[in-house]
Amino acid sequence: MTDSTIVAKYQELKTSLETFAHQYYVLDAPTVPDAQYDRLMRSLIKLEQQYPSLKTPDSPSQKVGGKPLSKFETIAHEIPMLSLDNGFEDEDLKAFEQRINDRLNSAENIEFACEPKLDGLAVSILYVDGILFQAATRGDGQIGENITENVKTIANVPLRLRGEELPSRIEVRGEVFMPKEGFERLNQTQKEQGAKTFANPRNAAAGSLRQLDSKITAKRPLRLYAYSVGVLEGGPIASVKTHSERLACLKEMGLPLCPDISTAKGSEQCLAYFKKIGEMRNSLSYDIDGVVFKVDDLGLQSRLGFVSKAPRWAMAQKFPAQEEMTRLLAVEFQVGRTGAITPVARLEPVFVGGVTVSNATLHNQDEIARLGVKVGDTVVIRRAGDVIPQVVSVVENLRTNDAQEIVFPKACPVCDSHVERQQSEAVARCTGGLVCSAQRKEAIKHFASRKALDIDGLGDKLVEQLVEEGLIHNPAELFHLNLAQLTALDRFGDKSAVNLLRALDAAKQTTLPKFLYALGIREVGEATARNLALHFLTLDAVIKADKEALIEVQDVGEIVAHHIYEFMREPSNIAIINALVDAGITWPDIEVAPIEEQPFAGKTVVLTGTLSQMGRSEAKSKLQELGAKVSGSVSAKTDLLIAGEKAGSKLSKASELGIETWDEQAFVDFLAAR
Ligand code: IVH
Repeated sequence: MTDSTIVAKYQELKTSLETFAHQYYVLDAPTVPDAQYDRLMRSLIKLEQQYPSLKTPDSPSQKVGGKPLSKFETIAHEIPMLSLDNGFEDEDLKAFEQRINDRLNSAENIEFACEPKLDGLAVSILYVDGILFQAATRGDGQIGENITENVKTIANVPLRLRGEELPSRIEVRGEVFMPKEGFERLNQTQKEQGAKTFANPRNAAAGSLRQLDSKITAKRPLRLYAYSVGVLEGGPIASVKTHSERLACLKEMGLPLCPDISTAKGSEQCLAYFKKIGEMRNSLSYDIDGVVFKVDDLGLQSRLGFVSKAPRWAMAQKFPAQEEMTRLLAVEFQVGRTGAITPVARLEPVFVGGVTVSNATLHNQDEIARLGVKVGDTVVIRRAGDVIPQVVSVVENLRTNDAQEIVFPKACPVCDSHVERQQSEAVARCTGGLVCSAQRKEAIKHFASRKALDIDGLGDKLVEQLVEEGLIHNPAELFHLNLAQLTALDRFGDKSAVNLLRALDAAKQTTLPKFLYALGIREVGEATARNLALHFLTLDAVIKADKEALIEVQDVGEIVAHHIYEFMREPSNIAIINALVDAGITWPDIEVAPIEEQPFAGKTVVLTGTLSQMGRSEAKSKLQELGAKVSGSVSAKTDLLIAGEKAGSKLSKASELGIETWDEQAFVDFLAAR
């Protein structure tokens, strides 16, 4: 190759890689498969190794990290990086609006930019003539650390800005964070490699960004969302009048913005936004701890100015904290439906995530060892959404001398049976089976629960009472309870008793999937129960199935097949099943569409992306009813991909393999046309 063809080839590779990264990470609309991107990247790196003079600071090869540093240098911010005043109540936001109106002498509804408050780390990224020049942490707001090499590896941070007329200098500010999914995956790999796991996505982001070796940072799933501008010299962005227009310019230049930002007029609309984001919080792909409101008009922003370290024109409205410190008072061991023994932390009550928490799960013995926690320790509790509160870490410098080691029981705390831990398992189990009253209680609660036989009025407390009084020993005995037994119970009136007996009678009419689920076989959830029923059609066939036959069922692997097989070989389980059927539990036969009415018979279909017109499980059941095998990953064996919104790598892989792809509407139309 001549010098000029090499340079041309190099430029072409560079441009393609930049375009593909922008499409993938910023526009969320990939056009080439990941493998293609990787191939181009390898060619680029090879060219740079052969011709080192080609390499420029904005080369996409910087995304894989460079030489490790021995320490971080410091960088003084030209414009200080401020913090925000916090509010917690609706009144705080109203007072904020009032202060602004008073200062501006206005009575109008002010326009606010509304943004999720991302729970990561603030960074400043300076672009000089469109090229990423340096990046720094916030530090104390005046001086931060030089993390240029690390920031360059973040997948959605452009090394070069897009567009013709670029500012000569622009400092982009934003939050570096780790998406929840990436965090889960990272912790999983860390665990597998015996490395330390992170308590939450924020800690993982901080740990990843402050690596002296940028090759490590490059492997971590970090992302940036830009939310403001510091230094700004030149370009059209310098003449826009509002914060939201500035953000739009950043987006034009190739910078990623949070997809859930908006604007609102006046505090009422701001509160509506706060409420909406609060409801979305758990389903967002990234962690947030509140919402930020900023006066949108830049002219008004400068009229309002600052007080000490925070602007008067912005505030953060916080959600209740999801993490708090408290003391671990004791550990108790609970026995679950399948005998699993779970250590439960008894805590000094603490207000976290909007409720008072006094218990948290410690999961299992390995988790206790991983945390290194002792009774008496000060611990950090996390309660996110509806999940059970968890102990995330120990505050070691607050440990006192009388902290006590946690001892895992060798015998079941309820029935004294032997406790066993299979080598392949993290959990220890009571070997007592239905002899153990704890397992009995849990099995009956499960049997009566909504997704199982759905017995109205048979709550957890009542089940416990019935078992403790010795009135029932297994689910079948529920159907032999009588009025006299029930009314004799403490605090149980005639009316409740009659209602319960009616509910028990009504619950006898069920479906085979619900019945199979209600049995409480290990690892057999609702979906597996459904697949079993659709596959075998009768209870008898499920009972008689051998492991080979069970593995044939959709989503049933060796382990689940083993659990089902063992369950059905246990005489006491079969006795309970027979007693249930004798008590009158029935279900309608499963009707299978004849093969000619199953357009997807023998076909493997994959679902990806967000479906807006139906839930994922609904789509899956529809496909299964039409004969499809629904699989989780795209391979050469896939016959069809149904891609909802924001479909990512599965969509690119399917197009690489030339697999037929439908959007959600095509699927909905197909169903409607049947
Ligand atoms: S604006 C003067 N916007 O919150 C404006 N900050 O408490 C200061 N943060 O250090 C920042 N999401 O790390 C802004 N959409 C957002 C934000 C955000 C998260 C963080 C940021 C900052 C802290 C201030």
